[in-house]
Amino acid sequence: MTEPLLPAAQTPHELDFISHSPAQTERIGARLGHLLRAGDVVLLSGPLGAGKTHLIKGIARGLGYDGPVTSPTFVLINEYRADAAHGRLPIYHVDLYRVSGVTELATIGLDELWLADGVCLIEWPERAAAALPPDHVHITLSYVSETKRRLRLAPHGARYRELLAMFKEATFG
Ligand SMILES: Nc1ncnc2c1ncn2[C@@H]1O[C@H](COP(=O)(O)OP(=O)(O)O)[C@@H](O)[C@H]1O
Ligand SMILES: [Mg+2]
Repeated sequence: MTEPLLPAAQTPHELDFISHSPAQTERIGARLGHLLRAGDVVLLSGPLGAGKTHLIKGIARGLGYDGPVTSPTFVLINEYRADAAHGRLPIYHVDLYRVSGVTELATIGLDELWLADGVCLIEWPERAAAALPPDHVHITLSYVSETKRRLRLAPHGARYRELLAMFKEATFG
């Protein structure tokens, strides 16, 4: 049994809806992941337990990666690999929760990550806002109830408005 995914109030470019389960959050992620390509940047905000890592797991699944997905802790960046159908793109999963300053960012190689030939998925982007590329899709997750989360997707830049238009079409028809 699957709850229908209905878009709530939206501006022309932003998407705002409720996920009713972790599995639904993963499916939403997979639909987005399927559309990503080299150079794309996805920022994920929301408190601990909001579902950022779950959504990223779905995004990685959508790119054909089947292995484990967990928030990077001490290494800060996990690297996964998309399947052949998605060009075997590197998938960079970054968690900046423990990062305290922009100087620290250079030492983990974050400053050049989005110039590489991969997809960047970044948790806790507010820790490094000034250092992140201006064009990106910003996803904000918030807690609604034990099993429900609100997801807001905001595009910044033409590529991401196009990406969200494709995602909307694929998701809501
Ligand atoms: N609709 C939902 N979407 C995503 N996670 C959910 C949802 N409902 C409950 N959860 C639970 O919330 C937690 C989210 O954990 P996680 O993805 O690691 O969050 P974050 O990375 O934001 O800290 C998991 O325990 C998951 O099972
Ligand atoms: Mg996480």
